[in-house]
Amino acid sequence: MGADDVLLEIEDLRTHFLLDDGVVCAVDGVDLRVRKGETLAIVGESGCGKSVMARSILRLVDPPGQIEGGTITLHRDGGPVELVGAGQKLLREIRWNDIAMVFQEPMASLSLVHTIGSQIVEAVRLHENVGKAAARKRAIDMLDRVGIPMPQRRVDSYPFELSGGMRQRAMIAMALACRPSLLIADEPTTALDVTTQAQILELLRDLQDDFGMAIMLITHDLGVAAQVADSMAVMYLGRVVEYGTAEQVLSAPRHPYAQALLRSMPRLGQARQRRLTAIRGMVPPPYARPGGCFFHPRCDHVMAGRCDTVAPSLIPVDDREVSCLLYEEDK
Ligand SMILES: Nc1ncnc2c1ncn2[C@@H]1O[C@H](COP(=O)(O)OP(=O)(O)OP(=O)(O)O)[C@@H](O)[C@H]1O
Ligand SMILES: [Mg+2]
Repeated sequence: MGADDVLLEIEDLRTHFLLDDGVVCAVDGVDLRVRKGETLAIVGESGCGKSVMARSILRLVDPPGQIEGGTITLHRDGGPVELVGAGQKLLREIRWNDIAMVFQEPMASLSLVHTIGSQIVEAVRLHENVGKAAARKRAIDMLDRVGIPMPQRRVDSYPFELSGGMRQRAMIAMALACRPSLLIADEPTTALDVTTQAQILELLRDLQDDFGMAIMLITHDLGVAAQVADSMAVMYLGRVVEYGTAEQVLSAPRHPYAQALLRSMPRLGQARQRRLTAIRGMVPPPYARPGGCFFHPRCDHVMAGRCDTVAPSLIPVDDREVSCLLYEEDK
């Protein structure tokens, strides 16, 4: 795929939290691309910066968090726009319209005191010049499209009147009402039971085909990633350590952390044949990142005198990108 296919390009993104006790480098030099229409899965242990990275894209990081540097470029039909440093007017235009986000817990993003319908109507009317009646019709159509029964009635329901699965569907309806070119889904199915989870994933896949949007799917579930992702990025301590097609990364990971992560996570259909192994050592505390490669204290392939001093960068390895000095030695 050529550069023309790139929808979102993140370069050296750094988002830090400036706390009294020190600086938490939640996102610490992320490089990533999302191509038009693809599903990119982001995986990594808890606390590695997946959510902060996602929120940084929409500039939803609240103080004491702030973007310290890097670029986030969105390639729109009208030309590229830079999101780091963008003003509120541009951001309002981009949220929902170009990039929408769904979270793990829909109650966190749906208002409790407004009906589902009025929230979708408001989102649509904020971005498009349509009348109330047309926006309400769009809301009903979207609720129907995401599989909510009796959408003409449900449109006037409050979020608490819906089940967890239905709320997540309503959230997706709201996110897609303005036809974004990118949907960021942060653990969208984690709070749901397995059957509902499968239904929501199926729904996202159908909608993606119909709407032609790209999806950035944050998940800790490799089974989910294997099911839906075209590409995959593995994050460790605020950085991407391996990035390639989902097939490449899942079947033959190259970065020692990606290899260890895959061995430590259950996967659909493999649970019985495989013994899961925990990754050696602990995630270092956020204030005390090791020098050199962040993973070196836990790495089985550590090279003394190199990995603890030289910070690796993402380089092409076997048709993907890997940040590990093991591969730089080959160059
Ligand atoms: N508001 C905040 N204030 C201070 N530190 C924060 C804040 N939000 C996140 N962090 C820190 O930033 C780091 C990354 O957090 P983030 O929520 O992005 O992780 P994650 O990869 O999404 O984890 P999970 O899989 O558990 O959702 C963590 O060390 C976290 O403690
Ligand atoms: Mg998270």
